[in-house]
Amino acid sequence: MPAPGENLRINGDRLWDSLMEMAKIGPGVAGGNNRQTLTDADAEGRTLFQKWCEEAGCDMGLDTMGNMFAIRPGTDPDALPVYMGSHLDTQPTGGKYDGVLGVLGALEVVRSLNDMGIKTRHPIAIANWTNEEGTRFAPAMLSSGVFAGIHTEDWAKARQDADGKLFGDELRRIGWQGEEPVGQRKMHAMFELHIEQGPILEAEGKNIGVVTHGQGLSWTQITITGKDSHTGSTPMPLRKNAGLGMARILELVDQIAWSHAPHAVGAAGHIDVYPNSRNVIPGKVVFTVDFRSPDLAVIQDMEHRLRLEGQKICDEMGLDVAFEKVGGFDPVAFDAGCVAAVRRAAESLGYAHMNIISGAGHDACWINQVAPTAMIMCPCVDGLSHNEAEEISKDWATAGTDVLLHAVLETAGVVA
Ligand code: GLV
Ligand code: MN
Ligand code: MN
Repeated sequence: MPAPGENLRINGDRLWDSLMEMAKIGPGVAGGNNRQTLTDADAEGRTLFQKWCEEAGCDMGLDTMGNMFAIRPGTDPDALPVYMGSHLDTQPTGGKYDGVLGVLGALEVVRSLNDMGIKTRHPIAIANWTNEEGTRFAPAMLSSGVFAGIHTEDWAKARQDADGKLFGDELRRIGWQGEEPVGQRKMHAMFELHIEQGPILEAEGKNIGVVTHGQGLSWTQITITGKDSHTGSTPMPLRKNAGLGMARILELVDQIAWSHAPHAVGAAGHIDVYPNSRNVIPGKVVFTVDFRSPDLAVIQDMEHRLRLEGQKICDEMGLDVAFEKVGGFDPVAFDAGCVAAVRRAAESLGYAHMNIISGAGHDACWINQVAPTAMIMCPCVDGLSHNEAEEISKDWATAGTDVLLHAVLETAGVVA
């Protein structure tokens, strides 16, 4: 039987076929996907994933947050599982690979181990974490956050979507609320394979990013209240234009992020304008400012200035404003031992690799608080992600999954 380091490889064609098969569920409008969390499409994707895992000989566990865990047994009944995984939910105009590669890459590792007849001392598990994206129910990484004890389950289940539907109700409606108490599983380690979602690896000509850190994030939801009135007949001095208040705060967000160049970033991706009618001055706006940086002090400074200077802008315009923190996590340093296993795997396979800091949030950022965790990244074309045109090559997906295989085998222990 072959041993790790002896050129073991996953089946890149089978991995690619599975990615394309999953992408048929919840198609987008421009070639990508709209498989948002706790929708019917999410349920359909879960069913297909479960079928594939069972065909690969795994038992499926399901917790009360809908997190799915497929287990391939090990030979030592006392050894904790080595986890792999990511998320199957997508943005409303998402790509085919964000999250999905990490779940189906993990499945491909299990399938390849089965093909090669390799047994491991530790069990190996594949996780699909519920609501990583945070688009429909803020915040992002909601269920891995509950698993890691960051949020309470009651709080998470009371999150509302834009139609006022509750996370807990929607999880039950789609039939994917399990009975296993969330967070009770203990992990020997966890590895998340993910596309980079940025331009660095492609520009540097590297197939593999060894993720050493994740940058921190802060989401502040801002509600500005003015007064709806006629766009034509309301004199300029009498207007209470919440939309204009938001525009000035958006300029401020940009200035704050630039003031911490080159590493800090800031934008508002979620904006609701009320009543959103061509001839009504907006009386209310609700929007979410997303600030990120690898430096916690920078994130805290950006949050502080947003509230201070945003309040001043609204006061001067006679607008009411409320700030609510709706998500965030501190910068993350991944486990040195797991990171080293990823680097050794890339080296032994001969893949060009470099250290990288994750710009995006990932379930691994929370799981790192309860188990030794690391991430593997592969490039994506033009660094484009959270876009239906998100693209990767089969070679990149294969290289990332080969590295996942070797890092997991080293950690789980091959049984001769
Ligand atoms: C998750 O996709 C995030 O980085 O917001
Ligand atoms: Mn993702
Ligand atoms: Mn995403």
